[in-house]
Amino acid sequence: MQFTIAHLSDLHLKRDTQALFKGQCPEAHFLQALAASKRIRADLLLLTGDLVQDVHPEVYQRLYQHLQAHPVPWVWLPGNHDDPQLMQTWAASAPRQIALNAHWDLITLNTQAQESRPLGSGCLGQQALAWLETCLRTSHKAQLIAMHHPAHKVATPWIDRLNLQDAQAFWALCRSLPKAKRPALIVSGHVHQAWQGRYLGINLLTAPATSVAFQAGATQSQLAPVTMQGWRQIDLLAQGQWRTRVLSLQY
Ligand SMILES: [Fe+2]
Repeated sequence: MQFTIAHLSDLHLKRDTQALFKGQCPEAHFLQALAASKRIRADLLLLTGDLVQDVHPEVYQRLYQHLQAHPVPWVWLPGNHDDPQLMQTWAASAPRQIALNAHWDLITLNTQAQESRPLGSGCLGQQALAWLETCLRTSHKAQLIAMHHPAHKVATPWIDRLNLQDAQAFWALCRSLPKAKRPALIVSGHVHQAWQGRYLGINLLTAPATSVAFQAGATQSQLAPVTMQGWRQIDLLAQGQWRTRVLSLQY
């Protein structure tokens, strides 16, 4: 009955596996999180964008090989640092609606938009919103939405400026739906910190980054201690119920 997801985000992998990102080695951290996620016997590995820092086929190829060697099915979606077209070379990316079990579907969205301003922010666009509305209105199961940019703020002003720029349209869509048709849970990355909230009766989660952690509440980019790096376990239960916990990489 239970469906367990290992949610990893913001890997920021470099072309050189030894290279540093903001003073730390993203490759080592990702592999550590991937190995740790084996211990929870997840049913799905979900990667919510900023998979690479160096956009190069070699980096996606290496990531793909790691994921294929992992004993769990996986799904990825792009962040603002990714190239969605390049990702499609190896595996389907967002948007997708995936049946997880008899109780839950996963909807992945692409919020990466080259023209989105300020740089680094995200956008869904009218076409994706129309597609999403059809998915939500026609489904009879609980819906888990995964997208890189949160449609909400996390009380960290500098990164909140870089969230979903058409969040208003996204929430207007959710508000227009009967409560039973609204998504049960929305999970995101991008903010490099674990956060949990609720809006319009919809539960909201962000995953910590595997690469580097951003300090919660900061007004400008500031790193948090390495103990804040990690990933999230999400257990989907029957009737739209769920539970979660954050796992530190524990240096
Ligand atoms: Fe990121």
